[in-house]
Amino acid sequence: MNDLSGQPVVAPTVIHRADYRPPQWLVPEIALDFALSLNATKVQATLKVAKNPAGTDTSLLRLNGDAIEPKSVTVDGQAHNDWHMDGADLVIELPGDTHDIGIETLIDPSANTQLSGLYASNGLLCTQCEAEGFRRITFFPDRPDVLSVYSVRMSGDKALFPVLLSNGNPTAAGDNGDGTHWAEWHDPWPKPSYLFALVAGELVANRDNFTTKSGRKVNLAIYVRPGDEERTTHAMRSLIASMKWDEDVYGREYDLDDFNIVAVSDFNAGAMENKGLNVFNTRYILADPETATDGDYDAIEGVVAHEYFHNWSGNRVTCRDWFQLSLKEGFTVLRDQQFSADRGSAPVKRIEDVRILRAVQFPEDSGPLAHPIRPDSYQEISNFYTATVYNKGAEVIRMMTVLAGLERFLKGTTLYFDRHDGEAATCEDFVKAIEDGAGLDLKQFRNWYEQAGTPRVSVVMTLDAANPTLEGEAATLGGRGVTLTLKQTTAPTPGQPDKKPFVIPLRIALFDRETGKHHGEELIVLTEPEQSFTFGGFTSLPVLSINRGFSAPVEIVAPVTTEDLVFLARHDDDPFARYEAMQQLIVRHLVGAVAGTLEKREESQAAIGAAMGAILDDTALDDLMRGELLILPGEAYLAEQLTRADPTRIFAEREGLKRWLGETLKDKWLALHDRVSAVPYSLAAEARGARKCKTQALVYLGAADPAEAARRAKAQYDAATNMTDRQGALMVLCSLECPEREAALADFHSRFAGNMLVIDKWFSLQAGSLNPKATEHVKALAEHPDFTMTNPNRVRALWMAFAANAQAFHREGGEGYRLIADLILKLDPINGNVAARFVPYLGRWKKVEEGRAALMRAELERIAAEPTLSRDVREQVSKSLE
Ligand code: ARG
Ligand code: ZN
Repeated sequence: MNDLSGQPVVAPTVIHRADYRPPQWLVPEIALDFALSLNATKVQATLKVAKNPAGTDTSLLRLNGDAIEPKSVTVDGQAHNDWHMDGADLVIELPGDTHDIGIETLIDPSANTQLSGLYASNGLLCTQCEAEGFRRITFFPDRPDVLSVYSVRMSGDKALFPVLLSNGNPTAAGDNGDGTHWAEWHDPWPKPSYLFALVAGELVANRDNFTTKSGRKVNLAIYVRPGDEERTTHAMRSLIASMKWDEDVYGREYDLDDFNIVAVSDFNAGAMENKGLNVFNTRYILADPETATDGDYDAIEGVVAHEYFHNWSGNRVTCRDWFQLSLKEGFTVLRDQQFSADRGSAPVKRIEDVRILRAVQFPEDSGPLAHPIRPDSYQEISNFYTATVYNKGAEVIRMMTVLAGLERFLKGTTLYFDRHDGEAATCEDFVKAIEDGAGLDLKQFRNWYEQAGTPRVSVVMTLDAANPTLEGEAATLGGRGVTLTLKQTTAPTPGQPDKKPFVIPLRIALFDRETGKHHGEELIVLTEPEQSFTFGGFTSLPVLSINRGFSAPVEIVAPVTTEDLVFLARHDDDPFARYEAMQQLIVRHLVGAVAGTLEKREESQAAIGAAMGAILDDTALDDLMRGELLILPGEAYLAEQLTRADPTRIFAEREGLKRWLGETLKDKWLALHDRVSAVPYSLAAEARGARKCKTQALVYLGAADPAEAARRAKAQYDAATNMTDRQGALMVLCSLECPEREAALADFHSRFAGNMLVIDKWFSLQAGSLNPKATEHVKALAEHPDFTMTNPNRVRALWMAFAANAQAFHREGGEGYRLIADLILKLDPINGNVAARFVPYLGRWKKVEEGRAALMRAELERIAAEPTLSRDVREQVSKSLE
């Protein structure tokens, strides 16, 4: 096949789940010897290989490689020439069933801008091997179902690399007497190569310890660059709490004498669960009140827990292949969500998790990159570390807890860990263990693993005629019956035109209009395309509260009037349902306004104003929850409700409503801002709630009365003792065209010069700003001396904030699209993994009005025309054009 330019057109390699075969060779043991250097690290690997009895008998040992070459190959200690390269892989012909293979490779960590494999960050050497980075260090069967016991030796310059870390336990260390030193580590737990880690450099540790329930004393250390150790207290506290929680709730105990965390500033993702040696992005470790917001504190607690929990859900039981990624990620996200819910406000945590799901996963599920939580195929696995695999994966397992109850669910997980400890398992293994342990039939439930797309459930509610013949429990209650008829439909997704019905557990309550009380919460489980449920004991049509606690990740179309929503927003005893009523009230209004179907704008607006006023006045409500209830539905979620829209109209309607609410409720916003401003700083829930409301009040005032908001924001900025208040104030100033804006930005920059994480905020705030000149600001910031394309946090801070800023990104004329396409093309050769993360913003063109859609597509085509794209960007762009 050839294209017109004469370049050969290579069809991309697609890997299919159905093609899984067991490995042909196993590697029970591996020894690695690193001669460390920032630009020329020598790696001597010794692999004990053995033919897999479960594989097909072959004398060819295939070892994956990526951008490395073998300097020497030995078999059983002898130089060996019977090998060849097949693409990037090393293939060795072997006479027997077991051999010792020696391979030497040479790598340049400082040239590794992909940050996969062994790379240099800020003078440190560190690794990231998930998913396929190990093959950039040495040749190996780099797949998660090959588990080996690792012994690691490393030596290097004492001044450059005073600290030498790897997985497992330190076994020996010494000085070479020539300015270099060495250390040996041994990890007794067999693990796949993606869990290997090595870190070397100048680091200081915050140390503590934890005694497990069976009495093992575990040494804990969080390693950071000198000067940062003061900012690790919260991470350490979170780690200790996680260790205790996993014992108490899941019965999981830690299994080594040491647990180490290292924070590095150049990192593609959030963090990595390498056995006994977690490596973190600094943003999920470092915090103190002056530099980290309350949101940062929560994120640190969640991610520290997430990585720790992987020690069981991921490491002790790992994945058979990468199609099973949600086995460890979905489950571990659920575990970290449960942990955070137990640590703080459970309802607020639930609301935040649902908000992320709707803002990121729902659009993914309705777009060109939609995939089931267990995908069927991929070109580049890095593209599947998605909100679907992670967050929807967690929702799917959460539904099992809804169906079984937590106690029975935990019997299932205990069985899962018992059955599969030490194995590389599948999602099917997990489902089976929950079925057996929790006593559930999950046959049809498995459709959640097979099918992509967000189901839509529409509900019709009828009050039966007087004296109906009710059956069963409903009859004993007397009165009239209420029948709910539910219909589920799921739109086609790529490769899946027709969907089988899902099992959808819905928590519901029916509120009596007279008493304002409901008849007790019920769980209904929808399994058919259409199904009816009847409840007795009513005298009039009740108010329906459905999908309480967000018991299923679906869209509900319910027969609830504006009046009903106002009622639920005020009275529902399920805090999530209360939030949801508020959201739906606003979603209906805004979607109707954008689509031009809103009939009584004034009345609808007034209903929202009344509901929000009630929330502002409700003294029984805590401020943390109040803060949640005041947040308007996000633009991405609003866009989801429309077939095709002009994103700048969504933006304008949303801002318009915000301004109206700001004006109408002005006295309440002012009073709220005054009240919460008097609450002193602490990390207690009340104080955090106060800070959340403080910023919300400023946001509404900023929309309604810019001069008053600027005055208050400047005062808040100047008086701030903590980053939450400072950032909130700066965000509001940033959105306004006022002299205070420049001054505050300049102050913020000089005050925090040298603190990379805070300077990231400085970039983000400007790029994500409502300010009409945001695009001009972004273009200037891209040229700022602090901007760099080689630090993923910095790239995301500027460009993701911009791509998510609808009014800037979608501005008339398509400049926003061009800027993001330029970025993707420029970043791709540096870091394809991070570059590919920007493609979905352009890929949503089908949801955007035709004029802009054409411009978005044109940019995707311009990217696709580049002949040397990374596999990551190539896959995302070609799928987005289909
Ligand atoms: N397993 C890591 C985590 O969830 C994330 C690894 C990210 N890797 C990647 N290729 N994006 O905690
Ligand atoms: Zn994870």
